[in-house]
Amino acid sequence: METVVSGIRPTGNLHLGNYFGALRNFISMQNEHNCYFFIADYHSLTTHPTPGDLNGNVRQILVEYLAAGLDPDKATLYVQSDVPEVAELYLFLNMNAYIGELERCTSFKDKIRQQPQNVNAGLLTYPTLMAADILIHRANKVPVGKDQEQHLEMTRTFGNRFNRMYNVDFFPEPQAFNFGNELVKIPGLNGSGKMGKSEGEGNAVYFADEPEVIRKKVMKAVTDSGPTEPNQPKPEAIQNIFQLMKVVSTPNTLTFFEEQYNTCQIRYGDMKKQLAQDMIAFTEPFREQIKALLSDEVYISRVRKAGQEKAHESASKTLREVREIIGFRKF
Ligand code: TRP
Repeated sequence: METVVSGIRPTGNLHLGNYFGALRNFISMQNEHNCYFFIADYHSLTTHPTPGDLNGNVRQILVEYLAAGLDPDKATLYVQSDVPEVAELYLFLNMNAYIGELERCTSFKDKIRQQPQNVNAGLLTYPTLMAADILIHRANKVPVGKDQEQHLEMTRTFGNRFNRMYNVDFFPEPQAFNFGNELVKIPGLNGSGKMGKSEGEGNAVYFADEPEVIRKKVMKAVTDSGPTEPNQPKPEAIQNIFQLMKVVSTPNTLTFFEEQYNTCQIRYGDMKKQLAQDMIAFTEPFREQIKALLSDEVYISRVRKAGQEKAHESASKTLREVREIIGFRKF
């Protein structure tokens, strides 16, 4: 059994891309491993220093992930800021993190470009905060995508450096959790690229979207005037519609439209109508569950509190030892 840690950014609602990406893997991992999944609200301040409704966003994300299948009886689900030991470990790690290596981090360089008016120290030390999230539970597995590989590499650097500096064998080396080929790519609705909230209005289908909203988004999805010769390869935008249909529709439906395409009889309006209907049906149970949970304040705060307690237990144990190792002791 591995100890697994992963953070969830509290910006943006849950969409089909998140679900078929990380989330489905979280859901299967929670059955086999000791998992800590948390909402990274400290991290969100690096880009959103004055959040309008941080608490509301955190609640929404917690509810959506619960509705999608994260189980508080299996995994430890918590809010990062509920476990301030993370901040103390971050402080210790920052003492041994060098400006040069932090400045070389790709995500930092990207952020400088994206928000030149707010190049704050939190952005620079984002990797040490992420390392603290992982090392606080002495995790050995982190389910992250390619974009987080460098952060994970830095986590290993910081953990190994700590071990070396204080001459201990304390932090394990966390490795990326490899899903092999289980990752399903979910394209967006605007013709190219993957589904995501930063890819433009109407590109992503959210679990909390009402059926009418889903229908409108799908009907606006980018298509073209259709194939002019039989059995032609599909342009990207069309391929994307088929890929979405593959995940939410029945194999028969997919085959029907494949044949229509290959014989140049396809009518994208009809196809999108069908896709919208199947997406609405697919998201229906999630949507209902989100509504039910949002109105159950008592349950949600109970889940949050229980997660905090479990995470605190693990975090405070690590921190007690870290303080001891560095030399913070009582007289
Ligand atoms: N940086 C991650 C992201 O942008 C979120 C994150 C924060 C995280 N802390 C983490 C992921 C710890 C894994 C482990 O998606």
